[in-house]
Amino acid sequence: EEKKRIFSGMQPSGMITLGNYLGALKNWTNLQDDYDCLYCIVDMHAITVRQDPVKLRKQARDLLTQYLAVGIDPEKNTIYYQSHVSQHAELGWILNCFTYMGELNRMTQFKDKAAKHSDNINAGLYTYPVLMASDILLYQTDLVPVGEDQRQHLEITRDIAGRFNGIYGETFKIPEAYIGKVGARIMSLQEPTKKMSKSDENKNNTILLMDEPAVIMNKVKRAMTDSGSEIRHGEDKPGITNLLNIYCACTGKTMEEAEREFDGAGYGAFKTAVGEAVVAELEPVQKRVKELEKNKDYLDEVIKYGAERAGKLAARTLTKVQKKVGF
Ligand code: ADP
Ligand code: NA
Repeated sequence: EEKKRIFSGMQPSGMITLGNYLGALKNWTNLQDDYDCLYCIVDMHAITVRQDPVKLRKQARDLLTQYLAVGIDPEKNTIYYQSHVSQHAELGWILNCFTYMGELNRMTQFKDKAAKHSDNINAGLYTYPVLMASDILLYQTDLVPVGEDQRQHLEITRDIAGRFNGIYGETFKIPEAYIGKVGARIMSLQEPTKKMSKSDENKNNTILLMDEPAVIMNKVKRAMTDSGSEIRHGEDKPGITNLLNIYCACTGKTMEEAEREFDGAGYGAFKTAVGEAVVAELEPVQKRVKELEKNKDYLDEVIKYGAERAGKLAARTLTKVQKKVGF
């Protein structure tokens, strides 16, 4: 039986955070034996907001290195840069012609991003969901792991695919949301009601995958705690809940076990334990990143191999689509 295909991508728009790691990357390593996964470094999406070219190139390369360091195997998975597979852009144009302005007007992420980057509300930002639909549909993807914030993107992808299939006959597989064990949702350290994000300007809100141990300990120490001194999870204690979640995700302990362990402990001792757990979790990954960085030829090879592998699959779908529309 053929393995189901999963597509997922990450923007090289900043340094990977503990949230990206615990919420996505770590989980991806658990999928690689049971699914046929494509992990795309979506650099074309990244330029919908201004990027410094030198930084963008470095961030994309770092992202690749970090994928590998976490244990995402380039033989078992297809790891590649979006910009290296021109079919993404080509299908993107075609699908633009099968997407209504009204649909794009309803996308909440566009409204959010347009508000945040009001000096640069470009057409790419607006048609971003169409490129994302192309990313997914090019590979006849079965499943897409989606967080709450991505649900609308999967919906529009399904609508576009269904519309195209309705006009031209079966062309695209209609992708479904991957509902598996999802990774922990990590919140910002100092604003624990908002998710930890690599694009956050407050650097004390995020722990980076590559942060030094001392930096990690310091950031955890400065994390917001809640009133009261009890170490337990609950809606009234977003700061402590977040630290407990981080602790559990790094140690594999359950919430109950963690709460029992810190019953009666002070915030200081608790934070030290959380910081140490994060350091212990990230240290082997960081070590591996540093080893991989020395091996430039190997990284180049992985990039080239991924692009070839993805390109072959993408060409199959694009050729089919081009014929159908009359090219
Ligand atoms: P960011 O907001 O850090 O730029 P993205 O939106 O690029 O992250 O998401 C990349 C992947 O990381 C997605 O799979 C997303 O679900 C996951 N992710 C991002 N932030 C978190 C978080 N704080 N906790 C858990 N998972 C996260
Ligand atoms: Na983001």
